[in-house]
Amino acid sequence: MWGSTGQNVSMNLSSTLVKRMHLLGIKDLSKEEINKLLDRADQWAYANAKSIGMPLQNAVICNLFFEASTRTRFSFEVAAKKLGSHVLNFYPNSSSTQKGESLYDTLKTLEAMGTDVAIIRQSDGGILEELAPKVGLSIINAGDGANEHPTQALLDTLTIRQHFGRVDGLKVAIIGDISHSRVANSNMLALDKLGAEVLFSGPEALMPEPSKLSANAKIVSPDEAIAEADVVMMLRIQFERHASPTSEAKIKGHFENYLEKYGLSTQRAKLMKDHAMIMHPAPFNRGVEIDGSLVEGEKSLIYKQVSNGVCVRMAVLERAVS
Ligand code: CP
Repeated sequence: MWGSTGQNVSMNLSSTLVKRMHLLGIKDLSKEEINKLLDRADQWAYANAKSIGMPLQNAVICNLFFEASTRTRFSFEVAAKKLGSHVLNFYPNSSSTQKGESLYDTLKTLEAMGTDVAIIRQSDGGILEELAPKVGLSIINAGDGANEHPTQALLDTLTIRQHFGRVDGLKVAIIGDISHSRVANSNMLALDKLGAEVLFSGPEALMPEPSKLSANAKIVSPDEAIAEADVVMMLRIQFERHASPTSEAKIKGHFENYLEKYGLSTQRAKLMKDHAMIMHPAPFNRGVEIDGSLVEGEKSLIYKQVSNGVCVRMAVLERAVS
């Protein structure tokens, strides 16, 4: 549509309607903002979606995943479609990034086409902070290296809150490759803001520097973490982020008999409190960090986490196109 000045009215409309509301990390959200997102996600989880309507009709949302994903990419796509939005899926291998186009130029191109939201997963832990102020669309961080995975932490805290009726005062054990995990980092920040304690555990070589721990977090043995926790969250070893041969060798040493030494075996799960529940952001490696039978066991909230991923991402997309 063209106005009398020859300007593209649709483009102007799009850029004036969109207030840029990035979600780069849990670190940028207050406790009140987290609770508001969880409350809205709960509405999407429990309400008859038809009675709420499709509030993002005509919004254009682009998924840009430079790293592998199943849950995050598809749940953003499902969330966007439930809200009535148009979804573009960007495939790096067949995009002009193959001809040297930068992420900044890609985003400026999408912005010029009237895209409202860019959902980005990539390996550089600092680049989204640099790009966000320079672009006219909302950026949602779908995982940036070992830095943050904010929507995962939101869906995890929503799952905990739904099950226990609160997050405040709970103990959450997070066990596995903590130092390479954006999920562990975002959860530590979210759980700190919501008043829960974090017990990190796993191979010593994969534990975070003490300086990176928030006040609510400490490192303990796997048995202690599992016996004390209300929630036992297992993480996989992220070999794809283990760069140096030295650390790889150290970790390979730890990897032998991993389930027995650090994982949630059926034997170790007997240490859990009666009311305690099992979580995992997935993908999981059955028989490595978790016994396969526990994934679908009565204590597992793992598939509830996946369902909640859609509701949380609906709330996050609404915030991004507000
Ligand atoms: N939990 C998670 O981020 O899964 P995907 O890598 O499949 O998106």
